[in-house]
Amino acid sequence: MKTPENPSSQSGSRRNAAVLITGAGGEVGHGLIRALSAAGHRDIVAIDIRELDAEIRELCMETFVGDICDEALLGRLMATFEVYEIFHLAALLSTRAEFSPETAHDVNVGGTLGLLRLASEQARSHGASVRFVFPSSIAAYGISDLATKAAAGKVREDQFLEPITMYGCNKLYCEHLGRYYARHYRMLAKDRVPDLVDFRSVRFPGLISSDTVPSGGTSDFAPEMIHAAAKGEPYACFVRADAQIPFMTMPDAIEALLALAAAPREQLTQQVYNLGAFAPTAGEIADLVADAFPGARITFAPDTQRQAIVDSWPADVDDTAARRDWGFAPRHDLASAFGEYLLPNIRARYAR
Ligand code: SER
Repeated sequence: MKTPENPSSQSGSRRNAAVLITGAGGEVGHGLIRALSAAGHRDIVAIDIRELDAEIRELCMETFVGDICDEALLGRLMATFEVYEIFHLAALLSTRAEFSPETAHDVNVGGTLGLLRLASEQARSHGASVRFVFPSSIAAYGISDLATKAAAGKVREDQFLEPITMYGCNKLYCEHLGRYYARHYRMLAKDRVPDLVDFRSVRFPGLISSDTVPSGGTSDFAPEMIHAAAKGEPYACFVRADAQIPFMTMPDAIEALLALAAAPREQLTQQVYNLGAFAPTAGEIADLVADAFPGARITFAPDTQRQAIVDSWPADVDDTAARRDWGFAPRHDLASAFGEYLLPNIRARYAR
């Protein structure tokens, strides 16, 4: 099967070539659509459960408001576009998912399954494999206790894969589904076509954006703390000051998705890659925020259950494979994340 070549406009068929982005209205979706558009893409098709902002809509060839589990919607996409690449971002994050685990499963797993199937059907119909870029998460990990977490240090992709949240279970299983569709799909069928789906995944750490605040995640304490201080609002942090997980900035996250998508297939030695950039404790973030905003009123009021989720995630990750295979190199460490990205942009944002 041929590899996709990012056709930029009309292909030989009557369907328009398209890069499909689900969850387009979320934090990653916003950044990704801006970046793809800036890189010259005029073939972005975006889906979200809510109407997209006008500014994002303008950057897309077509947008759809709808549920990724809606088979009729996926059928319409199939009929209208020749999809050569999918960034499947739609998901219910870890905190929200715990309030409705079965719904989260439907969206996170059912939605992914439907899109993998769409990818394979698209590849069959236009004869080139479809690149499927999937953000997994540190939530795929589950470490049993704090002593083990401290001893584990930077965890590798194959360690501690016993997530305690529905979201984590969903992400881990979807990694397996991606591997299955990429390598083994319909393995016993006589008319099997290999390599229909080119599945590539990153396990994101917590993400921090200067433009948007996440909703429904458990790593949200870091971005919430920073945005609250910038707005002059008090913030009660829902984890202990010593809680530690890895983070990265949103521009580095977007850059990583694009770099992974662009990497030559033969350079990729695995389907799922850890990513990390810095791994501060909540207390260290609070100190940086207090330095930047001297009036900041940050207190710690741990929520036992959300704390347990953060405690089950690694303190840091080993991302050697991503750096080696496709040149992952985040621009921001903790100091430059604050000094060069978050503070200037957040200050400007709330000064408006
Ligand atoms: N940021 C996500 C969450 O907190 C983790 O992938 O759910």
